[in-house]
Amino acid sequence: MAYKFRQSSLTKKMLVACAGLFVIIFLPVHLITNLFVLPITPDHEQTFREITHFLATFPVIKIIEIVLMAAIVVHVAYSVILYLQNRRARPVRYKRPGHSEQTPFSRFMIHTGIVLALFIVIHFINFYFIKLGLLPVPEGIENREDFYPMIYRLFSDQYYCIVYIILLIPTGFHLDHAFQSAFQTLGLNHPIYTPIIRVIGHIFAIVITIGFISIPVYFLLTSIPVFHCPIYGTVQYQDL
Ligand code: HEM
Repeated sequence: MAYKFRQSSLTKKMLVACAGLFVIIFLPVHLITNLFVLPITPDHEQTFREITHFLATFPVIKIIEIVLMAAIVVHVAYSVILYLQNRRARPVRYKRPGHSEQTPFSRFMIHTGIVLALFIVIHFINFYFIKLGLLPVPEGIENREDFYPMIYRLFSDQYYCIVYIILLIPTGFHLDHAFQSAFQTLGLNHPIYTPIIRVIGHIFAIVITIGFISIPVYFLLTSIPVFHCPIYGTVQYQDL
């Protein structure tokens, strides 16, 4: 009975890990695409439109998108089931000083996961559900797949910029632990490779989080006509 319980838990953990890794692969592609909203190259707007047009029309991407949505649902559903199962199996949370290998990030995975889920819901309301036709196209935008003006419109609201920045920070914490945890669940537990994966996980989480946060930060800074920077002094909107 206990063996069966452990085995089914392991299967669920594996599903959580595989689905999580699939979402992790999607993130760098998503980040690079969205960075072209910012003036990082002279023809950034055209590059952004070309990439999003390709993503919207290439048939293989449609299949990947369906797998991605399924991965998100599986990851969230089984994470919650495992969390509830663990709580039920061990209702009294005991502390063993010095015996815990938990880090602050691993201890708060369910909490950072809930924030991430909240972010995804807000994010889908802002873009994805509009693309699918589940929500109306915002005023002033003609095409439901034209994300360039949609992003500009959304982040012209400073509150949205701040909401995105705040919600993206726990996302980074979640990613940091998720990366190494997924490999461990899939059986990669090695005296040399595990520390390397842990370092790669830290770098990945930092780069992805700062990368995504840089987008609302840019809009927030350019929306302030004049601000006083401790390093550069007074900076005007047109200086940025
Ligand atoms: C400031 C940061 C971000 C911006 C500007 C942004 C922008 C977008 C846009 C425009 C879309 C619609 C694209 C489409 O449906 O073809 C989209 C979809 C999506 N975003 Fe983001 N995104 C950001 C951060 C994130 C983060 C951090 C995650 C995950 C943790 C995420 C997950 C998704 C997913 C799963 C979809 C739907 C799949 C897709 O259509 O590509 N996004 N995002």
